[in-house]
Amino acid sequence: MDCIDIMQEMDDKVVDLTITSPPYDNLRTYKGYSFDFENIAKGLYRVTKDGGIVVWVVGDKINGGFSMTSFKQGLFFKDIGFKMHDIMIYRKKNTPFMRTNAYTNCYEFMFVLVKGKPKTFNPLKERTVRNGIERLPANKKADGSVRKVWGELKSEKTRTNIWDYAVGLGGTTNDKIAFQHPAVFPERLAQDHILSWTNPGDLVFDPMCGSGTTCKVAKMLDRNYLGCDISEEYIAIAKQRLDLVLKQKKLLAI
Ligand SMILES: C[S@@+](CC[C@H](N)C(=O)[O-])C[C@H]1O[C@@H](n2cnc3c(N)ncnc32)[C@H](O)[C@@H]1O
Repeated sequence: MDCIDIMQEMDDKVVDLTITSPPYDNLRTYKGYSFDFENIAKGLYRVTKDGGIVVWVVGDKINGGFSMTSFKQGLFFKDIGFKMHDIMIYRKKNTPFMRTNAYTNCYEFMFVLVKGKPKTFNPLKERTVRNGIERLPANKKADGSVRKVWGELKSEKTRTNIWDYAVGLGGTTNDKIAFQHPAVFPERLAQDHILSWTNPGDLVFDPMCGSGTTCKVAKMLDRNYLGCDISEEYIAIAKQRLDLVLKQKKLLAI
């Protein structure tokens, strides 16, 4: 289905988190492609709960220069009432795309849009390099010397807003069938956002779900989910991936 039609069937303020990635300019030709960005954005605003989040994973077509479509979309989201809560980076650890007259592009944006103030934030942590009690710099005196005091370095800290993922089979996903879709994002990316912005039982939505990554991970993490794609072929892939979840949950003993 076209996601505009599916959103029209949804009540106001029902979605806790949307994670989605739209077609980037005309970089890929999706079957049945039709992309009415402005009406999709307005639909997302209406169906999102107060305090709910939309993660919009987007890159620009690079053809002699960046198209800047992503920025235009970001500004439109602000115009219709969303706040740009964060502009995060999805960095690909392995990327084949090279430019002859510029550095290799290795990232996409993850716009974190919020309706009001975020109602849920479960910060993901990472281990610090050093921890324990140490003499730590406290303040710099006028002569440039630094005063040190005893303090504790914690064993973990909140992650930064640049997230690295390996891409391709084994990185993006282990589901071979997913690669019948041309533009899958990593399961871990979906997982990290779902853990950050929702709790079990919340509703996670992907209006352009492609191979079903968002839905699959939401199911793995005991969230409710709703996915839609305009292509029947991609929905068939998504359904097969969702069928793998029970088996994979048992393997991971979740
Ligand atoms: C970048 S892909 C999403 C890939 C997905 N994140 C994944 O991991 O597989 C964009 C998807 O949007 C779908 N699409 C394009 N226009 C649409 C529309 N109006 N309604 C629903 N889906 C649409 C395309 O068929 C395509 O599968």
